[in-house]
Amino acid sequence: MGGGIAQVAAQAGYSVILNDIKEEFVMRGLGIIQKNLDRSVEKGKLTDEDKASILARITKSTSLQDAVAADLVIEAAVENMTIKAQIFSQLDVICPEHTILATNTSSLPITEIGAFTKRPDRVIGMHFMNPVPVMKLVEVIRGLVTSDEVYKTIEALSIDFGKTPVEVNDAPGFVANRILVPMLNEAVRTLYRGIASVEAIDNVMKLGMNHPMGPLALADLIGLDTVLAIMETLHESLGESYRPCPLLRKYVKAGWLGRKSGRGFYNYEV
Ligand code: CAA
Repeated sequence: MGGGIAQVAAQAGYSVILNDIKEEFVMRGLGIIQKNLDRSVEKGKLTDEDKASILARITKSTSLQDAVAADLVIEAAVENMTIKAQIFSQLDVICPEHTILATNTSSLPITEIGAFTKRPDRVIGMHFMNPVPVMKLVEVIRGLVTSDEVYKTIEALSIDFGKTPVEVNDAPGFVANRILVPMLNEAVRTLYRGIASVEAIDNVMKLGMNHPMGPLALADLIGLDTVLAIMETLHESLGESYRPCPLLRKYVKAGWLGRKSGRGFYNYEV
């Protein structure tokens, strides 16, 4: 999602440092941005000059130290609290005092992430939806001590990015994933119990509920590791009815992570 966030920020006129742990990951993110912009140019929504200036606003980085120049950091690493703890405690040392540290976490507590820093009042959740360039929602989540000033800045910035911010409280899965992900898990369980095929489950939800895509295709789009991580968080905090389906665990163990790995409930390796 980091690439998508970088794209919308650069399209809104901001200078962006696109950071990841390896050059190949940065290049992959940049490649997706380029493809998205090419599509917009083909459709006549952007000119070649627009595309060139958007790309020129994005700087590649593999050193977290580059965050020294940032007024805002939006972290979009994997859903693992140990990794978030490392990133936020390092950013707290690297970044100037005024820098806001936002996280795109899909379910981990903002208050806990803030506590890894000495500036929990400047830590906030800024949760984008997949695919970021298309989806309008940003859930904005305050930690226990996030300041009003930081909240207002992130609310205004989300609007600047062409999104609609919605304020929600710091609770497991916030609102989006507390409702959506158990539905995806239930779709996996429906498959696991042999009630219907992948295509049938997705067709029921597309044709019967007017969902733009079926839950299994959506799980593949989000990433099955991410869906599992969110279910684990919900299960831990909300109890037994949120237990991840064994089939979801099996696919993740097999490396079937959905679109990003070429295989999930559907095969993308063609
Ligand atoms: N990246 C960028 N743009 C994309 C895209 C992508 N991956 N996929 C589609 N688009 C763009 C297309 O270029 C097209 O743009 P224009 O309108 O400018 O032509 C537009 O989106 C519509 O695309 P398509 O006509 O190809 O396909 P579609 O109408 O079926 O829409 C979709 C595709 C937007 C993904 C749609 O199926 C959809 O809304 N799916 C549900 C997505 C959803 O629920 N997301 C939330 C997931 S939850 C989450 O992300 C939170 C979390 O923490 C897990």
